[in-house]
Amino acid sequence: MTILGISGSLRHDSHNTTLLRNVPLELELWEGLKEIPPYDEDDDVEPAPPAVARMRASVAGADAIVFATPEYNASVPGQLKNAIDWLSRPRGGAALQNKPVAVIGASTGAFGAVWAQAELRKVLATAGARVVDAEVAVGHAATRFDAERHPVLRFESTKIRREGENVTIDGTLTLKGVTQPVELRGTVTGPLADPYGGNRLGLELETTVDRTQFGIDWNADLPSGGRVLADDVKLSAQLELVEQA
Ligand SMILES: Cc1cc2nc3c(=O)[nH]c(=O)nc-3n(C[C@H](O)[C@H](O)[C@H](O)COP(=O)(O)O)c2cc1C
Repeated sequence: MTILGISGSLRHDSHNTTLLRNVPLELELWEGLKEIPPYDEDDDVEPAPPAVARMRASVAGADAIVFATPEYNASVPGQLKNAIDWLSRPRGGAALQNKPVAVIGASTGAFGAVWAQAELRKVLATAGARVVDAEVAVGHAATRFDAERHPVLRFESTKIRREGENVTIDGTLTLKGVTQPVELRGTVTGPLADPYGGNRLGLELETTVDRTQFGIDWNADLPSGGRVLADDVKLSAQLELVEQA
């Protein structure tokens, strides 16, 4: 089953793209929105412009689509609407015809792009899609996924065990002022002599924590059942320790 995720934002650090990346579904993120030319009925002929043909093929090949839309001036961003106009044609054989779609959205304001979501559902239904009649609104998005404003993550080890390449480190992890015990597992490489006369040790470590144990517990219900964000978060670190000559 292929579920395509389409973000209506072109922005590199888009909250809507981040939202799609955090939906607990196997989503294939579609990243061609910026390449779609402005809709011109004179250009809507066979063969279609290459970027449009690729988008139509991706949409036609998906079993379902999740759209995440920002809200621009109380509506859908122009480039997303433009793409949907291309996907609504040719009439009768459009890529969106009978396609199951759901709409979610994030905004920096309080309301989570609810007006844009409502407009997008209307546009998608008009284009022939089968639209889930529900919304997921993530308001104050800048505080939901914002690692930069909460950069403090502290780990202190209490016990290290090594068996050959494998290493297990017990310790405590502090996130947003909350400290919990964790166990890191991984591999160790070296020590190896480097060309500068020093020694290097490589460490690759991983652990999975339950974010709710650190008080990071925002979530919302998905229309289809389940929750928007998973509670388990995988943390990984790649370290290189250098002993200088
Ligand atoms: C041109 C423009 C218009 C906007 N209009 C609205 C609006 O009507 N309602 C709202 O909640 N946010 C509005 N915003 C703020 C967006 O919600 C915010 O920039 C959001 O982060 C955009 O989504 P993204 O992070 O996925 O790019 C607007 C932003 C821009 C750039």
